[in-house]
Amino acid sequence: MRRAGPADLEDLMALEARCFSAADGLFHRRQVRYQLASPCCAWLVAGQFEGAACLLVASNGRDRWGRLYSLAVDPAHRHKGVAKRLLAAAFVWFREQGVQVMRAEVKNTNLAARRLYADLGFEEHEELPDYYGPGTSGIKLYRRM
Ligand SMILES: CC(C)(COP(=O)(O)OP(=O)(O)OC[C@H]1O[C@@H](n2cnc3c(N)ncnc32)[C@H](O)[C@@H]1OP(=O)(O)O)[C@@H](O)C(=O)NCCC(=O)NCCS
Repeated sequence: MRRAGPADLEDLMALEARCFSAADGLFHRRQVRYQLASPCCAWLVAGQFEGAACLLVASNGRDRWGRLYSLAVDPAHRHKGVAKRLLAAAFVWFREQGVQVMRAEVKNTNLAARRLYADLGFEEHEELPDYYGPGTSGIKLYRRM
């Protein structure tokens, strides 16, 4: 498990393309390039790009929170605990950043991810109608660090 740097851009783009379809909303190359250079963002990579997580620290001047912006495990490496290890590393990074609450969103139909988040102590809060496009709701999740 390690934090990615600018040289990892193409491998991260390739991993995202293996894990998400265009309908899921893929990152643009320039977004990932920006994220890799930003001190408020960390891309964590498992092994040889078996999986990756994109983390953001956000603030409104008063509160500070962490956001899980992307989590993806290569289809060839699923069900081996890669996502659980990525999230454990995410908790460590967020705590180092002084973040007390972590937020995430998940498609209501993504039962694998919902179970993963529930196993790791996330609580499902609000439903977000049409968050992923017309007719596809999201669910807002929180976890205390
Ligand atoms: C969701 C995803 C990240 C899980 O990655 P993974 O490395 O296979 O997950 P893990 O092996 O760490 O599994 C951890 C837990 O997640 C849950 N889980 C994972 N895959 C599951 C599945 N297909 N069905 C039900 N639960 C599942 C289980 O609770 C599992 O715990 P267990 O192994 O003790 O049963 C992966 O399937 C993925 O990348 N999917 C496509 C992208 C995506 O949906 N990302 C999340 C967007 S919010």
